[in-house]
Amino acid sequence: MRHNCESFRLDWMLVSVSVATLLLAVGCGKSSNEQTGPDPKSGKSTYTIGMSQCNLGEPWRVQMNADVKAAAEKHSNLKVVFKDAQNDTLKQRSHVEEFVSAGVDLIIISPKEAAPLTEPVAKAMDAGIPVIVLDRAVLGDKFTSFIGANNKQIGKAAGEWIKQKLGGKGKVVELKGLMTSIPGQDRNDGFRAGIAGSEIEVIFEADMKWLEPDARKEMESALSRFNKIDLVYAHNDPGAHGAYLAAKAAGREKEMMFVGIDALPQEGVAYVRQGILDATFQYPTGGAEAIETALKILAGETVPQKITLGSRVFDKTNVDAGGQALN
Ligand code: FRU
Repeated sequence: MRHNCESFRLDWMLVSVSVATLLLAVGCGKSSNEQTGPDPKSGKSTYTIGMSQCNLGEPWRVQMNADVKAAAEKHSNLKVVFKDAQNDTLKQRSHVEEFVSAGVDLIIISPKEAAPLTEPVAKAMDAGIPVIVLDRAVLGDKFTSFIGANNKQIGKAAGEWIKQKLGGKGKVVELKGLMTSIPGQDRNDGFRAGIAGSEIEVIFEADMKWLEPDARKEMESALSRFNKIDLVYAHNDPGAHGAYLAAKAAGREKEMMFVGIDALPQEGVAYVRQGILDATFQYPTGGAEAIETALKILAGETVPQKITLGSRVFDKTNVDAGGQALN
């Protein structure tokens, strides 16, 4: 009898140990950030993030949304609703307002332009919705966190690279990003600081609004006006590629160098490998960092109001080694 009782106790112990092991194993399969039940603070089991993208016509923006999506999918408690403003500022303003009316838990916005998007972002903050501003800034400081690379630093590094490659003098075309957006302004300012003190002359400059077809058209004008161009500095890789196509159509692409910004592996970096661009400077999308920061905000943690991402330069000397970090 006593014997039976003991074996029963042993069986029980074995069962308990296996159940505990099983629970542990299930627990270990989840990432520590992953929420299974309701959040103890907010009582919510799912958070909705509204993501307002200024356009999806450019590969870089498609990549940003893909990065946000991939990062969010790792967390079963996050749902991201994407809206594409199709490069229309008024549409983007409405999208932010719609997210506020829908009562989303957090907004991520990559604004087309600074000034017109400042007010809707501020209103969302007034409504108690945290806002992460990604890549292109708004004016003032009424947002929860801004995430982006340092465009002045990138522009300056591009200017210094160009100064070195041209031996301190030459004739340059500058194809600028949308000048009502902060990255356009900063890539211009930084570049001018980078070439300061040299004999580099900017013989033609135009706002190509980040768009390849516009860059191509502007470059056609530059080619028809100037019979000597040493280098094209474009504020993004689509712009540099548009300029290259215009020069190639005129049979003049070998006469000059082409420098861009973005360095997507499938775009700018591939162009450097193919010898189409001479250099590209990386502009990370910040998609993964936006989700990481959103999770902290939703968990009630304080996050920095400015998160600056690093950049790398890719040219033919370093592309196979993965580029080189900017200091
Ligand atoms: C895409 C884009 C990128 C550029 C960024 C600047 O819309 O033009 O090519 O680096 O925006 O905000």
